[in-house]
Amino acid sequence: MTPDYPLLARQLGALLDTRDWLTNSAQTCAFLMQELPELNWAGFYLQRQPELLCLGPFQGKPACHPIPFDKGVCGAAARTRETQRVDDVHAVADHIACDADSRAELVVPIVVEDRLWGVLDLDSPTTGRFSEADRLGIEGLVAVFMERTELA
Ligand code: SME
Repeated sequence: MTPDYPLLARQLGALLDTRDWLTNSAQTCAFLMQELPELNWAGFYLQRQPELLCLGPFQGKPACHPIPFDKGVCGAAARTRETQRVDDVHAVADHIACDADSRAELVVPIVVEDRLWGVLDLDSPTTGRFSEADRLGIEGLVAVFMERTELA
Protein backbone atom coordinates (compact mmCIF):
# COMPACT_ATOMS: atom_id res chain seq x y z
CA MET A 1 0.00 0.00 0.00
CA THR A 2 1.30 3.46 -0.87
CA PRO A 3 2.09 5.48 2.28
CA ASP A 4 0.12 8.64 3.00
CA TYR A 5 2.68 10.97 1.43
CA PRO A 6 0.76 14.22 2.08
CA LEU A 7 0.71 13.32 5.79
CA LEU A 8 4.42 12.40 5.72
CA ALA A 9 5.18 15.73 4.03
CA ARG A 10 3.41 17.63 6.83
CA GLN A 11 5.22 15.60 9.49
CA LEU A 12 8.60 16.12 7.82
CA GLY A 13 7.92 19.85 7.53
CA ALA A 14 7.20 20.02 11.25
CA LEU A 15 10.34 18.01 12.06
CA LEU A 16 12.66 20.27 10.07
CA ASP A 17 12.68 23.29 12.36
CA THR A 18 16.19 24.54 11.60
CA ARG A 19 17.57 25.87 8.30
CA ASP A 20 20.78 23.90 8.79
CA TRP A 21 21.55 21.40 6.01
CA LEU A 22 23.43 18.97 8.26
CA THR A 23 20.74 18.76 10.92
CA ASN A 24 17.93 18.65 8.37
CA SER A 25 19.54 15.98 6.18
CA ALA A 26 20.26 13.80 9.24
CA GLN A 27 16.67 14.19 10.43
CA THR A 28 15.25 13.55 6.94
CA CYS A 29 17.01 10.24 6.38
CA ALA A 30 16.16 9.07 9.91
CA PHE A 31 12.51 10.02 9.31
CA LEU A 32 12.36 8.19 5.97
CA MET A 33 13.99 5.07 7.41
CA GLN A 34 11.48 5.11 10.26
CA GLU A 35 8.34 5.85 8.25
CA LEU A 36 8.77 4.08 4.90
CA PRO A 37 8.44 0.30 4.98
CA GLU A 38 10.99 -2.10 3.50
CA LEU A 39 14.04 0.16 3.31
CA ASN A 40 17.53 -1.04 4.19
CA TRP A 41 19.33 2.25 3.49
CA ALA A 42 18.35 5.92 3.28
CA GLY A 43 20.81 8.74 2.91
CA PHE A 44 22.35 11.66 1.11
CA TYR A 45 25.31 11.92 -1.20
CA LEU A 46 26.61 15.47 -1.61
CA GLN A 47 28.47 17.07 -4.46
CA ARG A 48 31.45 18.70 -2.76
CA GLN A 49 33.88 18.32 -5.66
CA PRO A 50 33.15 18.47 -9.39
CA GLU A 51 31.66 15.25 -10.79
CA LEU A 52 31.99 13.37 -7.50
CA LEU A 53 29.42 12.37 -4.85
CA CYS A 54 30.54 12.31 -1.26
CA LEU A 55 28.73 10.24 1.38
CA GLY A 56 26.59 12.42 3.67
CA PRO A 57 24.20 11.69 6.54
CA PHE A 58 22.54 8.29 6.22
CA GLN A 59 20.80 5.44 8.01
CA GLY A 60 21.84 1.86 7.38
CA LYS A 61 25.04 -0.06 6.81
CA PRO A 62 28.31 1.74 6.04
CA ALA A 63 28.18 2.66 2.36
CA CYS A 64 30.30 3.28 -0.73
CA HIS A 65 32.29 6.52 -0.91
CA PRO A 66 33.03 8.40 -3.08
CA ILE A 67 30.82 7.82 -6.14
CA PRO A 68 31.92 9.38 -9.45
CA PHE A 69 29.18 10.80 -11.66
CA ASP A 70 29.85 8.14 -14.30
CA LYS A 71 29.16 5.21 -11.95
CA GLY A 72 26.04 3.54 -10.63
CA VAL A 73 22.50 4.64 -10.08
CA CYS A 74 23.47 7.62 -7.92
CA GLY A 75 25.92 8.76 -10.60
CA ALA A 76 23.16 8.52 -13.22
CA ALA A 77 20.86 10.70 -11.07
CA ALA A 78 23.66 13.25 -10.63
CA ARG A 79 24.53 13.26 -14.34
CA THR A 80 21.00 13.41 -15.74
CA ARG A 81 19.47 15.38 -12.84
CA GLU A 82 16.48 13.05 -13.15
CA THR A 83 15.10 10.65 -10.57
CA GLN A 84 16.30 7.09 -11.09
CA ARG A 85 13.82 4.37 -10.15
CA VAL A 86 15.21 0.86 -10.43
CA ASP A 87 13.18 -2.29 -9.75
CA ASP A 88 16.17 -4.63 -9.58
CA VAL A 89 19.66 -3.19 -9.28
CA HIS A 90 21.17 -6.56 -10.25
CA ALA A 91 19.91 -5.83 -13.77
CA VAL A 92 21.85 -2.54 -13.92
CA ALA A 93 25.32 -3.20 -15.32
CA ASP A 94 27.21 -0.48 -13.45
CA HIS A 95 25.24 -0.58 -10.21
CA ILE A 96 27.51 -0.09 -7.20
CA ALA A 97 26.67 -2.82 -4.71
CA CYS A 98 27.15 -1.43 -1.21
CA ASP A 99 24.93 -4.14 0.26
CA ALA A 100 24.24 -7.41 -1.58
CA ASP A 101 20.74 -7.44 -0.02
CA SER A 102 19.65 -4.31 -1.91
CA ARG A 103 17.33 -4.92 -4.88
CA ALA A 104 15.29 -1.79 -5.58
CA GLU A 105 16.65 1.74 -5.55
CA LEU A 106 15.26 5.26 -5.87
CA VAL A 107 17.61 8.21 -6.27
CA VAL A 108 16.29 11.80 -6.35
CA PRO A 109 18.62 14.61 -7.46
CA ILE A 110 18.65 17.81 -5.42
CA VAL A 111 19.31 20.80 -7.67
CA VAL A 112 19.55 24.32 -6.24
CA GLU A 113 19.73 27.28 -8.63
CA ASP A 114 20.98 25.05 -11.42
CA ARG A 115 23.71 23.50 -9.28
CA LEU A 116 23.55 19.86 -8.20
CA TRP A 117 23.72 19.95 -4.40
CA GLY A 118 23.49 16.18 -4.02
CA VAL A 119 21.11 13.23 -4.21
CA LEU A 120 18.81 11.37 -1.84
CA ASP A 121 19.29 7.61 -2.19
CA LEU A 122 16.83 5.01 -0.92
CA ASP A 123 17.50 1.26 -1.11
CA SER A 124 15.21 -1.68 -0.48
CA PRO A 125 15.73 -5.44 -0.26
CA THR A 126 12.38 -5.92 -2.05
CA THR A 127 12.43 -6.12 -5.86
CA GLY A 128 10.11 -3.50 -7.38
CA ARG A 129 9.67 -1.76 -4.01
CA PHE A 130 9.30 1.75 -5.48
CA SER A 131 6.25 2.45 -7.63
CA GLU A 132 5.60 5.59 -9.64
CA ALA A 133 3.39 6.74 -6.75
CA ASP A 134 6.35 6.28 -4.40
CA ARG A 135 8.56 8.24 -6.78
CA LEU A 136 6.13 11.16 -6.80
CA GLY A 137 5.61 10.99 -3.04
CA ILE A 138 9.32 10.84 -2.27
CA GLU A 139 10.07 13.67 -4.71
CA GLY A 140 7.49 15.65 -2.71
CA LEU A 141 9.33 14.85 0.52
CA VAL A 142 12.60 16.01 -1.07
CA ALA A 143 10.82 19.25 -2.03
CA VAL A 144 9.89 19.75 1.64
CA PHE A 145 13.54 19.15 2.64
CA MET A 146 14.67 21.71 0.05
CA GLU A 147 12.12 24.35 1.13
CA ARG A 148 13.07 24.00 4.76
CA THR A 149 16.85 23.97 4.32
CA GLU A 150 19.58 26.46 3.50
CA LEU A 151 21.38 24.60 0.71
CA ALA A 152 24.40 26.74 0.00
N1 SME B 1 23.77 1.51 -5.16
C1 SME B 1 24.19 2.87 -5.34
C2 SME B 1 25.37 3.20 -4.46
C3 SME B 1 24.99 3.78 -3.16
S1 SME B 1 24.44 2.66 -2.07
O1 SME B 1 23.29 1.96 -2.57
C4 SME B 1 24.17 3.29 -0.57
C5 SME B 1 24.53 3.15 -6.80
O2 SME B 1 24.59 2.26 -7.63
O3 SME B 1 24.72 4.32 -7.08
